[in-house]
Parts: sequence; structure tokens; C-alpha cells
Amino acid sequence: MKPVKVGICGLGTVGSGTFNVLTRNANSIAARTGRPIIVEQIGARRDNPASDTSTTQMTRDIFDVARNPDVDILVELIGGYDVAKELILTAIEHGKHVVTANKALIAEHGNEIFQAAREKNVVVAYEAAVAGGIPVIKCLREGLSGNQINWLAGIINGTGNFILTEMGDKNRPFEEVLSEAQALGYAEADPTFDVEGIDACHKLTIMAAIAFGIPLNFERAYTEGISRVTPADIQYAEELGYRIKHLGIARQADEGVELRVHPTLIPASRPLANINGVLNSVVINADAVGETMMVGPGAGAEPTASSVVADIMDIARALEAPQTTPNPLGFVENALKSTPVL
Ligand code: HSE
Repeated sequence: MKPVKVGICGLGTVGSGTFNVLTRNANSIAARTGRPIIVEQIGARRDNPASDTSTTQMTRDIFDVARNPDVDILVELIGGYDVAKELILTAIEHGKHVVTANKALIAEHGNEIFQAAREKNVVVAYEAAVAGGIPVIKCLREGLSGNQINWLAGIINGTGNFILTEMGDKNRPFEEVLSEAQALGYAEADPTFDVEGIDACHKLTIMAAIAFGIPLNFERAYTEGISRVTPADIQYAEELGYRIKHLGIARQADEGVELRVHPTLIPASRPLANINGVLNSVVINADAVGETMMVGPGAGAEPTASSVVADIMDIARALEAPQTTPNPLGFVENALKSTPVL
């Protein structure tokens, strides 16, 4: 069976995790998709000792991967805006499908990227962009696609939840816990994205687009981070029977969709109040299913790789049998018939 060939750009925490999962589970992945998936080329500024890439073709120029005629799927794991966007658009221009974990890019430039993908009839998949290892994009787009979503609320930044948990449980100072989150590979390159709610807002923007069929509206969401939450705030909340959690909330109101990210007091008895550490959780309330809750690791090498690899496999299946696979860009079509964001 002809293999599907993947080019990975970026060999940091998630790139290395993706390479390791693809190679370690190659047999079961091939059995489940119907075709072997091989890493044809890696584009990265440096090697990563966490992965043995000695038998894989390496390039220091990531654009080599975007132009490589042997690559079917480009996996963008470099993060950031400008270079990542140019890389993805170059890959699309060369007829490649794209998998990305880049929530900032999808939330802020996704409308343009999806338009380019539509014109070239290729897929841009981004499960790993939201809530790390939790398959929340597939849940919204596939599992709950027959529902009207009333609201969704989630802890969608692992670094922030790790900081709040450690500050509360162990009375550790904010800066110390943030440094640990950076060392563990949880935090963004610019950690203000984590602590000021920007990263959570990127993820909320993406979920809301799918859940409510609206355009990506990052700049219209209310965004507040956790940088002003103190151990004393957490202690007082505890004494009153509450936990402070940093939530992203999207709600269908009469006039439109409300999007907000901010620290929230939650009664300590509620499941969401007990999601601790780097875990993420998303609660979805919808007309047919009622309420459903997903919990899982929101960051880290292999949890995020789990979602990246699932997207690669989806595309591989679509290449094998295109008529049987749901269109991963379906929500963008819906987005054109949008309701306003409050
Ligand atoms: N910095 C992000 C987080 C990584 O902590 O949730 C995963 O998106």
C-alpha cells in the first residue's frame, strides 16, 4: 500500500512528540488508516535529543518541506504568526494538506487560511490547537453536530490551571510556578499569552466558530487573565466554598454569541472546580445531548501529539476514501451564515 508522506516543521516539544508517536505506533496507525504514514522530512533549526531522527531526511529550511513534491501533509509545529502563516500558505499553494497546532494563527488568520485551502481543495486540520489531547474539535464538529449548542465553558489553558492549582494547594508564588510550567514545556513561547488569557481566547474563538457557525472573532471576545489573582484570593474563595478557575465561555444569547475569558468563582462541589494541574476540561450544553464534559491533558509533548496524529490519520483516510470522510472544513461554510458576536 502506498504510504502517506508527512513533513514535520518544528522539532520542539510537540514536533518531537509527534515524530515519536508516529514512529512508535506506525503499525497500528497503518492498520487503522489503511495506509502506512511515514515521516518523509523534518524541517527544524536544530535536532532534538528527545527524538531519534537519524534515519529521517532533515532540512534547516522549513520551506523546503512546503515545496517538497514527495510530502503529502505538512505538519506545522513552529508556532507564531508570520513565518508559520507563510509556511502554511506555501504548502497549500503546493497542493499539500496541512495539520497545525497553532491556535494563535488559526484564531487570528484562520479565515484567510481556510479560504486559500478551499481554493486548492486541500484540508487544514487543527485538533491540537484546542485543549491539547482532548478531542474537542472532533466532538463539536462530528459527535455533537446534530445539536444546537446553548453554551460551552472550559478550562482551556493548562499553564494557567497549573499555576492556580499550585498557588492554591501549595501556596507557591506565581512566578515560581510559571517558571516550572515553562520548564515542563506547557507554556507558550511568550508566557503572557498564557497568564493574560490570550491563549485561552484563541482556543475559545476556534471552538465558538465551530459550535455556533460564526466567523473566527478573536478580537471581539472579552479577555482577562490570571496575573492579578493572588494566593489570598484563592484562600478566601476556598473559605467561602469556591475555587477560582480561569474559564473561556461562549454562550448563545438572543442577540448573538457572547465570548469571554476570565477568572471565575465556581462552587467547590462542581466537577469543573476539581480539574487541577495541567488538565483542561470543556463542558458543552446542547439541546439534544444535554450536558457533556471532557477532561484531559491540555498541553505537553505526547498529549498534543495525540491530536496532531489523529488529524494526520483523518487526512490519510480521506486520501484513501474521500467520499466517506466528513469535510474537516465544514464549519467555515457555516461561518459564512453567521450570527453577530456580542
Ligand atoms: N500554553 C498552552 C497551555 C499549551 O498551557 O495550555 C497548549 O495549548
